[in-house]
Amino acid sequence: MRNILIAGNWKMNGSRASIKELLDGLKAGIDKVTNAKMAVCAPSIYLADVAEQLAGSAISWGAQDVSTEASGAYTGEISASMIKEFGCKYTIIGHSERRTYHGETDELVAKKFAVVLEAGMTPIFCIGETLEEREKGITEEVVARQVQAVIDMHGAAVLGKGVIAYEPVWAIGTGKTASPEQAQDVHAFIRSVIAKADAGVAENIIIQYGGSMNAGNAKDLLSQPDIDGGLIGGASLKAPDFLAIGTSA
Ligand code: 13P
Repeated sequence: MRNILIAGNWKMNGSRASIKELLDGLKAGIDKVTNAKMAVCAPSIYLADVAEQLAGSAISWGAQDVSTEASGAYTGEISASMIKEFGCKYTIIGHSERRTYHGETDELVAKKFAVVLEAGMTPIFCIGETLEEREKGITEEVVARQVQAVIDMHGAAVLGKGVIAYEPVWAIGTGKTASPEQAQDVHAFIRSVIAKADAGVAENIIIQYGGSMNAGNAKDLLSQPDIDGGLIGGASLKAPDFLAIGTSA
């Protein structure tokens, strides 16, 4: 049985005060979440605050991106070992907003996958098609290419040490969720791509859904056989909403 992982991606939102309020709310309600693991991925400037406030709680934390480089003259970048120093368990990589606004390629994201693992953290590896790609009928081709980039660079066994987040780009922040059937179809397809390289990894890897998941639609999405959790943007910014997704699992 795969675990359910519900992770919040706060993106570039929050302040020290709002994050304290959010984490206080999550800590107060986390006991009610019995079937899922919960995590929050914070802007890196707040990781120290988050680490301090979540120490000893059942909620894990992570970052939203990482440099491919270990150290050196890379102004503005943050390395995996720096993130790990704060006790981070996860780092999101390859989010569509990084792919779109920062030109991140499949190869670059595949490099980040290994960098996160080598530092002792778990990558949350985001993939997904744009609206244009879905309308062209190439959703499967796109997600297969994105997953294959990691398999080709590192092998399926390494892929199996991460978490995949399938996030159709047209569903992110739009209020348009993929239907449970649409999401399930792609999740099953992703597993079939991985199975060609390693059936055991395909069976065991957590594949989260992301894109306008909220307290109202989480139960239907999470009840699909190949959906093992969620990567939540907007609805992770309010403690009751995020906890309600956790209790839907
Ligand atoms: P929303 O839940 O706001 O659609 O964002 C999803 C997402 O991009 C999580 O990484």
